[in-house]
Amino acid sequence: MMIETIDIKQAKTRYNVLDVIRKRWSPRSFSKYPLMPEEIETLLEAATWAPSAMNEQPWRFVVASKEDEEKFRKLADFLVPGNRVWAENAAVLMVVFGVTTYARNGKENINVGHDVGMATQNLLLQGVSMDVYGHVMEGFDKDRVIEEFQLPDNIRPLTMLALGRLDVPDLLEEPYYSREQSPRTRRSVEDSVISFPEM
Ligand SMILES: Cc1cc2nc3c(=O)[nH]c(=O)nc-3n(C[C@H](O)[C@H](O)[C@H](O)COP(=O)(O)O)c2cc1C
Repeated sequence: MMIETIDIKQAKTRYNVLDVIRKRWSPRSFSKYPLMPEEIETLLEAATWAPSAMNEQPWRFVVASKEDEEKFRKLADFLVPGNRVWAENAAVLMVVFGVTTYARNGKENINVGHDVGMATQNLLLQGVSMDVYGHVMEGFDKDRVIEEFQLPDNIRPLTMLALGRLDVPDLLEEPYYSREQSPRTRRSVEDSVISFPEM
């Protein structure tokens, strides 16, 4: 059964914003159906086509599907309890890393968070076009990820992602059950625009 984005979660926009932007939201109730390897590859390919400073592409991903029980459990164990309780029902978990230095000269890449965020959003919007939804999480034990993956100092975990198809919220406990059904809100566009100083 495929669950559509419930109406209450769709962004109520004033203008004709792209469908995938209106429909994207961060669910906690995931269907038990797996994602096919090609679907995961498609999401990752979409991510890699994000723009980045000097085309450094500072994003890196660790990916585990639910069927790969040992790897999936390892990633789920990094999550704080408030994320783990629902995210362990996702079809796929990922850790998203950023490379904090430029390959060309070893200097600090101050755009790393920006560029990895762009790649993540590409992945999420591609997902919505395929009825696959994702939830970004920064609530996880980054020190443990660093320790267990033994990565170089310049590769740092930034977020984790829970991905899958939507399910009805009925199996979620509170407060997640209510959150799953509450409208999404944003402050007004005007409040995000800074005026010029007196000229
Ligand atoms: C960097 C980042 C970290 C986040 N961390 C968490 C998290 O640890 N747990 C969680 O439930 N949601 C987390 N979120 C999801 C946000 O709460 C969510 O995107 C925001 O409330 C807007 O809701 P929407 O994505 O449905 O529009 C995170 C989102 C981002 C971008």
